[in-house]
Amino acid sequence: MTGRPVTLITGASAGLGVEFARQCRARGDALVLVARRGDRLAALAASLGGAEVVAADLAAPGASERLMAEVAGRGLAVETLINNAGFGLSGRFAELAPERQSEMIDLNVRALTELCRLALPEMAERRRGFILNVASTAAFQAGPNMAVYYASKAYVLSLTEALHQEMKGSGVHVTALCPGPVATEFFDVAGSPDSALAKRGVAPAGVVQAGLAGLARNRAIVIPGMMNKATAQANRILPRAAMRRIVAAIKS
Ligand SMILES: NC(=O)c1ccc[n+]([C@@H]2O[C@H](COP(=O)([O-])OP(=O)(O)OC[C@H]3O[C@@H](n4cnc5c(N)ncnc54)[C@H](OP(=O)(O)O)[C@@H]3O)[C@@H](O)[C@H]2O)c1
Repeated sequence: MTGRPVTLITGASAGLGVEFARQCRARGDALVLVARRGDRLAALAASLGGAEVVAADLAAPGASERLMAEVAGRGLAVETLINNAGFGLSGRFAELAPERQSEMIDLNVRALTELCRLALPEMAERRRGFILNVASTAAFQAGPNMAVYYASKAYVLSLTEALHQEMKGSGVHVTALCPGPVATEFFDVAGSPDSALAKRGVAPAGVVQAGLAGLARNRAIVIPGMMNKATAQANRILPRAAMRRIVAAIKS
């Protein structure tokens, strides 16, 4: 082991990330908190009795490498990686700002992939490591009126399932967490604070608890909540055309 083992949480300045930080701290983990809003991270770190903080825009080119170099430079080794940072945009594909859509792919897809790639080799060498990638129930079907977001989460689920299988028996756990709507800043950022889905948001605590428990047991996929489990399975029963129409109706 090179460095002190830590749990690195991306997107720790709000929503699910704050709750991941609280629950991981409560079980005794040393933390590295990452997001753009460093002031919020510093306040959270103080409230938790201390944590490493790295203010970084993970959608920027080279950000993942810089982050991992910074962590190594502080004498820390990532034992648990929680790839939680992400955002969505509500609206029609042809009308949403193209640079924001690219930023979403850079964060939800590219940075998450790069962080897995940077963290995994050392975890495999140590024969111990935990990666929790936050996908969504959006991963299970196409999402008209949130097209790039749904596609990004389908990527996260696919990548994570593959890594889970590759790492079986290696001592490295890899899990996809697929929440339904959660009451966070997500829908404000997405531009749909008053949507039907936003109103159905559950508290983050149970979602995070289910994710951490599933990661400990090396579950490939964790879908918190009975309704969300049923929704995720609906695409096995319903024709794809029906699923598209249903999601389009919810999101219009
Ligand atoms: N809320 C839901 O209904 C829901 C459902 C399923 C899945 N999810 C997923 O859950 C994850 C967490 O979202 P949330 O619901 O907690 O939303 P949130 O409250 O908006 O939090 C998003 C976090 O991501 C960080 N972030 C955004 N852009 C970033 C960037 N460029 N670089 C670094 N960090 C960045 C934000 O911090 P800064 O702004 O300070 O950078 C914030 O800490 C996301 O992957 C989301 O897709 C959410």
